[in-house]
Amino acid sequence: MTTQREEFGSRIGFILAAAGSAVGIGNLVGFPVNAAKNGGGAFLLIYAIFVFTVCLPVMMAELAAGRKSNKNPLGAYQYFAPNQKLWSIGGWLSLITPFMIAVFYAVITLWVLGYLVAIISGDLNLVANPDYFGKFINSSKVFLYLAIITGIVWYILQSGIKEGIEKGAKFMMPTLFIMLVALVAFVLTQDNAAAGLHFYLVPDASKITPAVVNGALGQAFFSLSLGMGIMITYGSYMSRHNSIPGSAKMIAICDTGVAFTAGLMILPAIFSFNPDINPEELSSSSVSLIFTFLPKIFLALESSIGYIGASFIAASFFLLVLFAALTSLVSIIEVPVSGVMDQLGKTRKQALTIIGGGMILLSVFCALSFGLVSFFTEFAIYGGGIKSFFDLIIDVFYETILPLNGFLICMLVSYRWKRSEMHKELEKGDDNFHGSFTERYVDFSLSTFIPVILFLIFLNTVALKFFSFDVIAELF
Ligand code: PHE
Repeated sequence: MTTQREEFGSRIGFILAAAGSAVGIGNLVGFPVNAAKNGGGAFLLIYAIFVFTVCLPVMMAELAAGRKSNKNPLGAYQYFAPNQKLWSIGGWLSLITPFMIAVFYAVITLWVLGYLVAIISGDLNLVANPDYFGKFINSSKVFLYLAIITGIVWYILQSGIKEGIEKGAKFMMPTLFIMLVALVAFVLTQDNAAAGLHFYLVPDASKITPAVVNGALGQAFFSLSLGMGIMITYGSYMSRHNSIPGSAKMIAICDTGVAFTAGLMILPAIFSFNPDINPEELSSSSVSLIFTFLPKIFLALESSIGYIGASFIAASFFLLVLFAALTSLVSIIEVPVSGVMDQLGKTRKQALTIIGGGMILLSVFCALSFGLVSFFTEFAIYGGGIKSFFDLIIDVFYETILPLNGFLICMLVSYRWKRSEMHKELEKGDDNFHGSFTERYVDFSLSTFIPVILFLIFLNTVALKFFSFDVIAELF
């Protein structure tokens, strides 16, 4: 195709769209609980160090590879390593991974929408019942909500980069920030909020084990939307007048800022509901927290602000999560869509139809895998248990392949693309980069220890997930 590639309209539009991708369910619930359980302030510090020393260079590499090649991830791998079958495996992985992650993320997003609708219809008391979740995910309503989510994402993506993704992010992200700050302000006025803050923020170095360090890095990597081809794709829509290092830093600051701020909402809320709670008892799973634990907390507000007030707070929270999930979902679906457009020369609408059709089918399989159809519920056996189709996708793509993709992109930019060329790309739109400390650090880290760390994480996850062998526990 000879048509000019679409571009984001402004630097702030690009940053909001990329931050919209990065800020997701992981930031709002997963991060705060992990931090509270694993050493509070000490975890925060390790997490922040990983964001800036390991994740940021990878993000710059992905953005630069995308902008230079002007392509989707598969196209980018082919651009830097033409006719090399082995390298194009990396490209394929960076297209298939986001597609599969989008499938399960769409299912979680439709649950969020379902809860939001139920709360707005006055059913907070039903939603707060722990049995509600199991019934809801196996009800026929999920197909309706899947259709609505698909419709919203379709509408945003068919409008293109500037009119769709950028406009959507410009509306949803500031709204999300405002709602988050308002909810934090409200939660901090509740009884026992200080106990929650104490648990969240006071450092406890004794909790920092090798497994916690490993978890912090995994969380940071996922949270910044790395290894999913998203930053390569968004980089390909980025103007050459914008600074990649500067934008990457802003995205990382935004993402970490939202994750940190979300903790100021979640932990005090949990403690004001149940002052004696030991955070160790909280499930690490974002899903069970959002859908079974937090609704109870919102309902408990009834005694102080009435049923309508409690429903209003609960609805605000679910709307916040919905916006965070939608901007992430849009970014991840854009990756295979741009793949089909570039590689097969299709129009945006045709690409959306192909990818959307495949995704709906697989999302339906996921939705059927919580008991409705035993073929999908008992889909595979590995790692000492029976796993559903939904579990399998999470274990393979979300847990395992992400660090492998990160490793491959580091190798691609360091050893296939001339390093001096990559630096030229990073210097475009950034007058201060040449000769800076950041430049030397990015060059050194991407070609040495970062790929090593990512590869070790990959091996460790394979051993743990599929062979139930805990390398870290064996070694330390
Ligand atoms: N950073 C996102 C999150 O925390 C990760 C993600 C991006 C997930 C895009 C899915 C799609 O949820």
